[in-house]
Amino acid sequence: MYNVTKKEQLNPDICLVEFEAPDIAKAARAGQFIILRIDEKGERFPLTIYDYDVKKGTVCVVCQAVGVSTKKLCALNKNDFILDVAGPLGHAVSTEKIGNIICIGGGVGTAEAYPITKAYKESGNEVKVIIGARNKSLLICEKELKSLGVELYVATDDGSYGRKGFVTDVLKELLSKQKYDLIYAIGPIVMMKAVSQAAKPYNIKTLVSLNSIMIDGTGMCGGCRIKYNNESKFTCVDGPEFDASLIDFDELIKRQGRFSDKEKLALHEYECRLGFKH
Ligand SMILES: Cc1cc2nc3c(=O)[nH]c(=O)nc-3n(C[C@H](O)[C@H](O)[C@H](O)COP(=O)(O)OP(=O)(O)OC[C@H]3O[C@@H](n4cnc5c(N)ncnc54)[C@H](O)[C@@H]3O)c2cc1C
Ligand code: FES
Repeated sequence: MYNVTKKEQLNPDICLVEFEAPDIAKAARAGQFIILRIDEKGERFPLTIYDYDVKKGTVCVVCQAVGVSTKKLCALNKNDFILDVAGPLGHAVSTEKIGNIICIGGGVGTAEAYPITKAYKESGNEVKVIIGARNKSLLICEKELKSLGVELYVATDDGSYGRKGFVTDVLKELLSKQKYDLIYAIGPIVMMKAVSQAAKPYNIKTLVSLNSIMIDGTGMCGGCRIKYNNESKFTCVDGPEFDASLIDFDELIKRQGRFSDKEKLALHEYECRLGFKH
């Protein structure tokens, strides 16, 4: 059992949860993720490690409530418990000095871009960050990213804050002005695909952190399989970071929706149960 030590609502759908997990905090590196199960009836689901504190023995995640498991996590409060946490899983980001880097985060991916940006800054890289959301009220982690000392650009779809448009509009502008050594994007799959396409003419290495459906997280079930450079790869053990130019994004988008009927039904039943309780 993992004791929740902090819970903060970042926007109506996204919360930050910190919990005690000293062994995971000791081993965690930027870019890795954990797999959680909230209660006995819960499904296993992956979340990126947003931050960790070895001294306090805590791990922090930022979670968008989209279905039953994520809603259950976001409903927890300080001193509640999470049943199981496995991790850290997946490969960490490189800690080499690369040069000029653009990090991009969209939606809840903005929180996932935070540890990546921090790791690249700590390795002595020049990092510019572009973050995006549908509107101002949904934007998260702006202050935290700014505190890393990066040049930060904000785009909102409706123009309610920062520049009106998509993160790719800002990206294209930056790419037209200066040479970069690496682009790293994390967010909705369609956004990562668009970033990859925008970067292609400039021939800049573009990495993305994939959020394909995972079940066991150990390379055994095949749930997170993607087509990569015409071969099969498992996001949980081979990733989650991949070279965007080699990913078959269209297949990934199709696979991501394969349980949508069951997910809708599970959410409906969960919300009915909650309604019944209240
Ligand atoms: C490596 C990795 C890191 C992630 N990090 C974060 C994070 O930091 N914050 C965050 O909010 N979300 C993150 N996600 C996505 C998160 O795991 C899903 O939103 C969550 O599993 C949805 O479960 P649910 O029961 O709430 O919703 P469901 O109703 O089950 O599903 C809603 C949607 O979430 C996706 N999904 C469902 N089950 C899984 C699963 N087991 N694995 C991956 N995606 C799934 C599907 O696209 C589905 O349509 C990450 C996913 C991966 C693979
Ligand atoms: S989640 Fe089972 S193989 Fe990756």
